Amino acid sequence: MESKIEKLNSRIALAYLGGGEARIEKQHAKKKLTARERIHYLLDENSFEEMGVLVTHRCTDFGMEDHLIFGDGVVTGYGTINGRLVYVFAQDFTVFGGALSESHAEKICKIMDQAVKVGAPIIGLNDSGGARIQEGVRSLGGYADIFFRNVQASGVIPQLSAIMGPCAGGAVYSPAMTDFTIMVEETSYMFVTGPNVVKTVTNEEVTSEELGGASTHSTKSGVAHLTSSNDIECLNDIKKLLSYIPQNNRETTKKIPFEIKDELREELENLVPENTNKPYDMHHVIHGIIDENSFFEIQKDYAENIIVGFARLAGRSIGIVANQPMQLAGCLDANSSIKGARFTRFCDCFNIPLLVLVDVPGFLPGTDQEWNGIIKNGAKLLYALSEATVPRITVITRKAYGGAYDVMNSKHIGADMNFAWPTAEIAVMGAKGAAEIIFKKEIKEAENPEQKLKEKEAEYAFKFADPYRAARRGFIDEVIYPKNTRRKLIKAFQMLEGKEIVRPNRKHGNIPL
Ligand code: COA
Repeated sequence: MESKIEKLNSRIALAYLGGGEARIEKQHAKKKLTARERIHYLLDENSFEEMGVLVTHRCTDFGMEDHLIFGDGVVTGYGTINGRLVYVFAQDFTVFGGALSESHAEKICKIMDQAVKVGAPIIGLNDSGGARIQEGVRSLGGYADIFFRNVQASGVIPQLSAIMGPCAGGAVYSPAMTDFTIMVEETSYMFVTGPNVVKTVTNEEVTSEELGGASTHSTKSGVAHLTSSNDIECLNDIKKLLSYIPQNNRETTKKIPFEIKDELREELENLVPENTNKPYDMHHVIHGIIDENSFFEIQKDYAENIIVGFARLAGRSIGIVANQPMQLAGCLDANSSIKGARFTRFCDCFNIPLLVLVDVPGFLPGTDQEWNGIIKNGAKLLYALSEATVPRITVITRKAYGGAYDVMNSKHIGADMNFAWPTAEIAVMGAKGAAEIIFKKEIKEAENPEQKLKEKEAEYAFKFADPYRAARRGFIDEVIYPKNTRRKLIKAFQMLEGKEIVRPNRKHGNIPL
């Protein structure tokens, strides 16, 4: 007779085999790791503790009672990444295509509840054919149980989602409600309805990759925050991302020890071109400010007129929101406003100080923008920055025009320190546009209207195209030498460490959606 230990051993061995050798080989042939391989690569060596390894489904329809596989298509548990506790679930495509049953969902819910109680991040590795078709509404209920928990955990613990295979139908809404979605190029896709349904309903011919692959979601829809070239890179990206964020909303990210030296950065001194219409790459400004090689850009190929990402400043994790003059002259449009707002809110949830770098000529004009709701979408960024209580510092490198000046973390909406470079131009609009409006009559009646416009433009620029009026009013705390920016920011963020803001009690604000 099988001993009690043998019985346990054989069950665990069966669980570890998942859907069997042939299906594991198929998974590898698709250049995908299995659920367990993924978890073992992600977590510190020998740190993984599995929960629910012997769970099976309870379905008795379609002969499913004869198909019981321990673990039921998802590996769940906890472990550490660089010594930090995290909870992980990894869907096992070799077991019923990783499809989600009632029991599978219960396993995920169990570790989500635990993660919230303990205050540790949860990481989901998704690779699933969606709702377990044999279970019908019970699997749909399982999804909703997860969605509900995603929302309850939002802003309490960081939630990271990797898409490492199919993620279709209702399944997409759990990753969508987590803080970051990372997709693996070529082997993952996300869509609410697949190519076949699309063909039937809209008569469009489209491949899975075109419809919902990593490249589509990182450039067109903005659904993916990061893409990685393969499973290993994806797991590395998760580890890296985690290094910038704290365990939960009551903690701050641990500072990396850093020895402060003179911190002058001469390369920033002549970065802004003389000609104010000439673009320059805001990435150079970012790299001139932060600790070497510490920038981790988020959504880098989407709405490129704004740059968002994490970095370290003297070892401290910060979030950066920056206009990018290389794209649409750095104008704010609907997509960039949403991108900036979402990132700002993440940083605010998790006590990550914000640095806002400004070179913005205004909001992007046009019917496309107006009809796509630039008003309500621009308001999202304004709202997100206004409500953020983390330390917030602004540096205006060049243009800060019109309403966009207000939006981009101005003093008026609660920024703690506002710096400007001598090249800053803080005005209602550019000198040419301003001159055309306020000197319209004079220009029209002039002997040489073109010459007059030039004169008036120069007059307006002389008066307003600098930071000194704003500095006189205290809207700018200091006009700084560009080379000094890093030094000033290190000191100011240090000074703001004890910042506390108490807001009036309310259920929640009503951000324009
Ligand atoms: N429910 C139950 N089993 C499922 C499933 C689901 N939703 N999706 C996949 N499976 C099973 C398949 O029956 C197959 O089982 P087998 O290994 O015993 O033959 C296994 O998972 C692998 O699926 P397969 O279709 O062979 O893999 P693929 O890589 O060729 O295709 C999908 C993957 C996801 C595109 C395809 O399985 C699919 O279209 N699934 C259904 C998606 C869906 O409509 N889900 C419900 C809506 S949320």
